Amino acid sequence: MYAAFRSIGAYVPEKILTNEDLAKMVDTTDEWITKRTGIKERHIAAENETTSDMGVKAAALAIERSGIDKSEIDLVVCATISPDYLCMPSTATVITDKLGIGNVMSFDISAACTGFIYALNVAKAFVESGIKKNVLIIGAERLSKITDYTDRGTCILFGDGAGAAIISATEDKSEAIVDIHTGSDGSYAELLMTPNGGSGSAHDSLSAEAAGAFMQMKGNETFKVAVRTLTNDVKEILATNNVSSESIKHFVPHQANYRIIKAVGDALDMKDEQVVLTVAKFGNTSGASIPMAINDIYESGRLQAGEMMLLDAFGGGLTWGSALVPFSPKK
Ligand code: UT7
Repeated sequence: MYAAFRSIGAYVPEKILTNEDLAKMVDTTDEWITKRTGIKERHIAAENETTSDMGVKAAALAIERSGIDKSEIDLVVCATISPDYLCMPSTATVITDKLGIGNVMSFDISAACTGFIYALNVAKAFVESGIKKNVLIIGAERLSKITDYTDRGTCILFGDGAGAAIISATEDKSEAIVDIHTGSDGSYAELLMTPNGGSGSAHDSLSAEAAGAFMQMKGNETFKVAVRTLTNDVKEILATNNVSSESIKHFVPHQANYRIIKAVGDALDMKDEQVVLTVAKFGNTSGASIPMAINDIYESGRLQAGEMMLLDAFGGGLTWGSALVPFSPKK
């Protein structure tokens, strides 16, 4: 049995936070943000809109476009670092309930910006082993809840949104996800973290906890590791599978920073038309960024059946991953 990437869906909240808006909140300018990151605006969830609410909307589209009924879904995995609830229930379980999917295995993955590729890897493994047939994977983030809007080094980067995909069993090898590589190195944990909560917290009271609830990042060091790791990761997956970069129709990198994407794209000899870019309009939406970018090329008619996508992500942990994925809607 093989695993096919059947469909994609995404949801972007209505409210827009522009660079000009941020310049009124912290000591920054549209010019600096544009030059250093390529970001012009990001979307922010409504006051009462949760990560699961956004995940549900993206998932409903992915299910509708997959041609399967929601009753056929037998596993739901949600990649998020901004879950509805810190410990339990998982956001995947909340989404499963809101969609009315019923009694299935559901759980979250915490792998930051690499989360969607980790979820894809889990879905592939469950499907190929014959344990599950139709897996709903979601990347959903309400990062605005864990962003410190007094820290200009991070608040200019992040936005909210969600993306989802259906991964189904197939016997047709030409439809199959080719390969996925994933890795992590916890020795870099302090480069990008939310130090609150959990048994590792340095705080001994909930009020002190709150101060550490926001994301903290050593941006410049993270940037350098990101470029190196993303480039090596892609070179490795292409070489292992004997695939040339020219045969990739859509290179879909995690949308963290235009300069990171450009540096990696150049190192891999990717042409501009191969590289999918949504960072200017969505900012960095962590685990949601790759499925939102795939949905962008799908909805604009650029993604056609059978075309090969190369996904590449990097994030807090540190974690990383790459995947060679043909788009294989149900025939
Ligand atoms: O998504 C998962 C992983 N995350 C990433 O991949 C993000 C990786 N990092 C980045 O994207 C970049 O490092 C940033 C966009 C966060 C920062 O860009 P940078 O070119 O690495 O800048 P920097 O941190 O080296 O800072 C350069 C200068 C500093 O001033 P001094 O010390 O040179 O006077 C900063 O204080 O820019 C200053 N700075 C700002 N200035 C205006 C930092 N943030 C801002 C800002 N506006 N928003």
